[in-house]
Amino acid sequence: MQSLTKLRYLTSGESHGPGLYTVLEGMPSGLPIEVEYINDQLARRQKGYGRGGRMKIETDQVEITAGVRHGYTLGAPICLSIQNSDWKNWQDEMSVSPTDKPLKRVVTRPRPGHADLVGGIKYDFRDLRNVLERASARETTSRVACGAVARRLLEEFGVKIAGHVTAVGPVRARVLPATAEEILQKTEETPLRCLDAEAETKMVALIDEAKKMGDSLGGIFEIVVDGLPPGLGSYVQWDRKLDGRLAQAMLSIQAVKGVEIGDGFDNALKFGSQVHDPIYYDAAKKAFTRSSNRAGGLEGSMTTGLPLIVRGALKPISTLYEPLHSVDIETKQEFEASVERSDTCAIAAAAVIGEAVIAITLADAFLEKFGGDSLREIRRNYDGYIEQVREY
Ligand SMILES: Cc1cc2nc3c(=O)[nH]c(=O)nc-3n(C[C@H](O)[C@H](O)[C@H](O)COP(=O)(O)O)c2cc1C
Repeated sequence: MQSLTKLRYLTSGESHGPGLYTVLEGMPSGLPIEVEYINDQLARRQKGYGRGGRMKIETDQVEITAGVRHGYTLGAPICLSIQNSDWKNWQDEMSVSPTDKPLKRVVTRPRPGHADLVGGIKYDFRDLRNVLERASARETTSRVACGAVARRLLEEFGVKIAGHVTAVGPVRARVLPATAEEILQKTEETPLRCLDAEAETKMVALIDEAKKMGDSLGGIFEIVVDGLPPGLGSYVQWDRKLDGRLAQAMLSIQAVKGVEIGDGFDNALKFGSQVHDPIYYDAAKKAFTRSSNRAGGLEGSMTTGLPLIVRGALKPISTLYEPLHSVDIETKQEFEASVERSDTCAIAAAAVIGEAVIAITLADAFLEKFGGDSLREIRRNYDGYIEQVREY
């Protein structure tokens, strides 16, 4: 996949190390981008009912250390750095240089559901902290920063991206159709980024109950993208299929274990006549239209021009304050798993991370279609294509 992509990025950094670092390559020159814009997205990731103590310690702030000059991208690799405020409490524990000081936070009791045990076996570690520091979803801070740059590019072409929560554990929100803009406006100040206030009250109560029991919860979030042109992605080769690329991006988020495009799972239980979106032609607008969007904005692995709808299923958090059965890797004795400071439910943050990874994937597909070295060149390619689509 990496060889075909126009937009590439790598993240590095440990959860309690000095910071998180991202190199983003492939952005055109001339895109206006400011630190505040990225910081706003980072702040959105930190919100949400059910988060643990870590989010109270951190106020994530990005520093752009390469690839931007006087507020505009240079077309060169962009480097995004974010310091971990908590690092000051972990300097011995996470020291890069060898240390003689006794380590106090060695992890030898793997948590079921986390990367601890398999990561330890695979990389041959006796301290599972070496695994969890990188497996931690703290890494998604980098992806939200990177996603903000991708989002900024798409915004130039009228694309809006919004995530919202549709379920927490067994509590489901009512389906309330909304544009991306409406979702952003209505959910920004809510505790769980949920459009259905009644369901959200129940979700909050359920999170309180889980916390009291030392348990955790997952949920479902939905990403809505408006303003995409038809024809991003392609049906001609497996690795150009946009649905596959979106699914990969979503499943790369820690704890996301299911992805749905449009009404994917419901559609599988119906007749075809109840599922596919009939095609009409609006002569006045000189445009093809649909009476529904059950496909979720993708047909043949290409955007249709209707809103893109992608859902992610987040499993419950693995760290339990009432831990599950585990085995100490040194003594092989049976124990309860270790407890690391943890969220009870991270679904609201997952919706923001979902927005970011979808933005990166769409920006990549966008650059593939309209590619150019400068924003001006891309705009010319985009305008020409939109004109061509109008004449079809
Ligand atoms: C926003 C977010 C926050 C998370 N916070 C925690 C947490 O506090 N404690 C925890 O055990 N897992 C947390 N997770 C999930 C773990 O990172 C994830 O389960 C683990 O890395 C293993 O990966 P896997 O679930 O994809 O197999 C979080 C996930 C996300 C998306």
